[in-house]
Amino acid sequence: MRQPFRIPFLTSVFAVAAFAAALHAAAPPAAAAQKTELKAKPATSFKKPIKKLPLSKETIACLECHRESATPAATKQWEGSRHAVAGVGCYECHSAAKTSPTAFEHNGFSITVLVSPRDCGKCHAKETKEFEASHHAKAGQILGSLDNVLGEVAEGIPAANSGCKQCHGGVVKVTGPGKFDAATWPNTGIGRINPDGSRGSCSACHSRHAFSSSVARQPENCGKCHLGPDHPQAEIYAESKHGIAYRAKIGEMNLDSKSWVLGKDYSAAPTCATCHMSATPELPLTHDVGARISWTLRPEVSQKLENSETRRADMQKVCANCHGANWVQGHYAQYDAAVSLYNDKFAIPAKAIMKKLRDAGKLTPTPFDEKLEWTYYELWHHEGRRARMGAAMMGPDYTQWHGFYEVAKNFYTEFLPQAEELLPGVTADVKAMDDHKWLQGLSKEDRAKIESYYQKRYGK
Ligand code: HEC
Ligand code: HEC
Ligand code: HEC
Ligand code: HEC
Ligand code: HEC
Ligand code: HEC
Ligand code: HEC
Ligand code: HEC
Repeated sequence: MRQPFRIPFLTSVFAVAAFAAALHAAAPPAAAAQKTELKAKPATSFKKPIKKLPLSKETIACLECHRESATPAATKQWEGSRHAVAGVGCYECHSAAKTSPTAFEHNGFSITVLVSPRDCGKCHAKETKEFEASHHAKAGQILGSLDNVLGEVAEGIPAANSGCKQCHGGVVKVTGPGKFDAATWPNTGIGRINPDGSRGSCSACHSRHAFSSSVARQPENCGKCHLGPDHPQAEIYAESKHGIAYRAKIGEMNLDSKSWVLGKDYSAAPTCATCHMSATPELPLTHDVGARISWTLRPEVSQKLENSETRRADMQKVCANCHGANWVQGHYAQYDAAVSLYNDKFAIPAKAIMKKLRDAGKLTPTPFDEKLEWTYYELWHHEGRRARMGAAMMGPDYTQWHGFYEVAKNFYTEFLPQAEELLPGVTADVKAMDDHKWLQGLSKEDRAKIESYYQKRYGK
């Protein structure tokens, strides 16, 4: 069921190429000759045009080796970055106090390979604080989850290390000066648990060593993690009118601009960042990606989040830059109705049946050792999420064929029969619900309606 992510990938190649070309044109020669020391300067003023600032003598020393013999291509990426222009060099990010858990001695300098959000936060306090408050920063705390039994136990630990943890982030373990347990690093999972106690990885979105906003603004960037059978946001976006407009008008998206306010700096299409993070004339940029969503679509049964009305009102301020109020309200009415349908017709009844089976001792407490547990898991975790997420972000094929169709097929042809087999009669209450009465047979009138439809349409 995993959908190939073809079209966006193509556009990403073009976008990255265009982006690289733009950077190349703008890339300043690195100021190797300048010897003034940089005083760590908070990055508060960087909306203003920035003067080229000198590099520190430490960074100049790093560059002496790193430009020629060690990591020359990575160094080139940094040379094209805003950091290089602002005098933020290798040493400003990689220097480490000797007492830091990841510090090691490197050619006369105490450095760290791993640069944590706390390190970035020395200059970017606002972004780091918002990020830390978000669900992204908590994504490494999946160790107690049901999915983790699936990943680490039913599948196996190397699968979880190369799979789950590359998106969610795992605990990075230090084994010696400058050395990490290879099972835990490299890792740029969004909620990585760092040896300094901080959470997350800024380079999950700000690919090194350019650390640009432009890469992070592209939907392909979020698509490393937000895709696949259980959360296909990238595919939904690609299918939606918004994704279509983005691909068609990518040249007008102004992705390289320093300021990126919707309606001022670009207007062709919204990307993931536009709706969930970026600035509009009314809203500031936020690094808390949950700030504008009202439902959580992840659990078995969807719930409204705390302050859901305020969050929703903020998202609607984004829409209002391109759409009228009735259009937006209408979309939300359709979305709410789809989530309620999923909850009331399928999710709540299925959850109740699972509870009855557990209470009756028909299912062991061990997850994933019975077929019905896999069936139920796919019902809410895969199909049920696709249906809800498709409806949230205007992807009709994910709402219908990858979503509600699969939910209904699973519910009626797998989940209910398997539950009934374990405990005869356990599904009776559910089958008696108005929503499911049709199983007892359509009425004569309904059948006649269907017959006459096919008669008119196909003459048979
Ligand atoms: C005398 C030359 C030299 C100098 C000076 C130097 N480096 Fe390196 N550095 C290297 C070489 C060579 C490697 C590759 C070593 C390896 O990983 O095998 C390296 C590797 C690294 C690594 C990766 C280490 C790892 O374990 O993966 C980092 C990070 C790094 N350097 C940062 C710096 C910084 C920051 C400075 C300046 C403070 C600096 N280097 C100065 C030569 C140098
Ligand atoms: C804005 C901060 C920043 C600057 C400036 C910076 N780095 Fe890094 N560097 C990082 C981050 C973040 C990582 C990813 C490590 C991690 O978090 O696991 C990294 C990783 C590395 C690595 C190891 C990763 C690998 O792919 O092997 C090397 C080597 C390195 N940096 C060298 C340099 C050199 C040389 C410079 C200067 C030309 C430099 N860095 C400038 C933040 C920075
Ligand atoms: C020593 C201070 C310092 C550190 C440490 C630092 N930055 Fe920056 N950063 C700056 C400054 C100054 C600018 C502004 C440059 C400009 O306005 O052109 C900047 C700009 C940025 C931008 C915007 C660049 C663009 O092209 O739009 C991003 C994204 C960014 N930093 C991310 C990071 C991340 C991630 C880290 C840690 C891995 C980090 N920074 C570490 C000072 C720092
Ligand atoms: C391709 C990246 C990726 C992989 C691989 C992945 N996840 Fe996720 N996971 C996500 C994303 C993205 C979300 C959030 C989706 C959303 O908000 O709609 C998520 C959500 C979750 C949640 C729900 C969190 C909550 O707050 O309700 C859990 C638990 C979870 N994943 C555990 C796992 C485990 C365990 C594995 C491995 C068996 C795994 N994931 C594999 C990307 C991934
Ligand atoms: C989920 C992806 C994501 C993560 C993780 C992330 N960023 Fe960003 N960041 C973005 C996007 C997208 C933008 C560009 C937004 C825009 O310009 O509309 C951005 C912009 C920035 C900017 C430029 C701000 C400005 O006013 O122009 C800085 C600085 C920055 N990020 C720092 C960080 C730091 C530090 C971290 C880690 C604590 C981090 N980011 C983690 C997505 C991310
Ligand atoms: C490296 C993987 C990764 C990347 C890249 C990533 N995310 Fe996520 N995202 C996750 C995971 C994992 C979760 C689920 C966190 C949890 O609840 O444990 C998540 C959750 C979310 C949520 C739900 C937040 C909430 O409060 O419920 C939103 C919205 C979101 N991401 C948007 C984005 C956007 C927009 C981007 C790109 C700008 C992005 N993400 C990039 C992994 C990622
Ligand atoms: C046109 C605006 C828009 C765009 C573009 C957009 N989203 Fe969304 N997104 C929404 C809305 C609206 C919701 C539902 C909000 C609510 O529940 O109130 C949502 C919900 C989500 C959720 C929450 C799912 C959960 O588990 O609760 C995630 C994660 C997410 N989007 C990620 C993404 C990613 C990744 C992209 C790009 C590939 C993207 N979005 C593009 C508007 C957008
Ligand atoms: C940057 C402008 C922009 C923003 C912001 C934006 N949209 Fe759109 N939207 C478009 C464009 C362009 C289309 C396609 C119009 C067309 O095909 O004629 C579209 C189409 C739609 C459609 C119709 C989908 C279809 O298949 O016919 C809906 C519904 C929609 N948007 C809702 C929203 C909602 C809700 C938000 C906020 C969460 C939002 N849009 C944010 C530009 C935007």
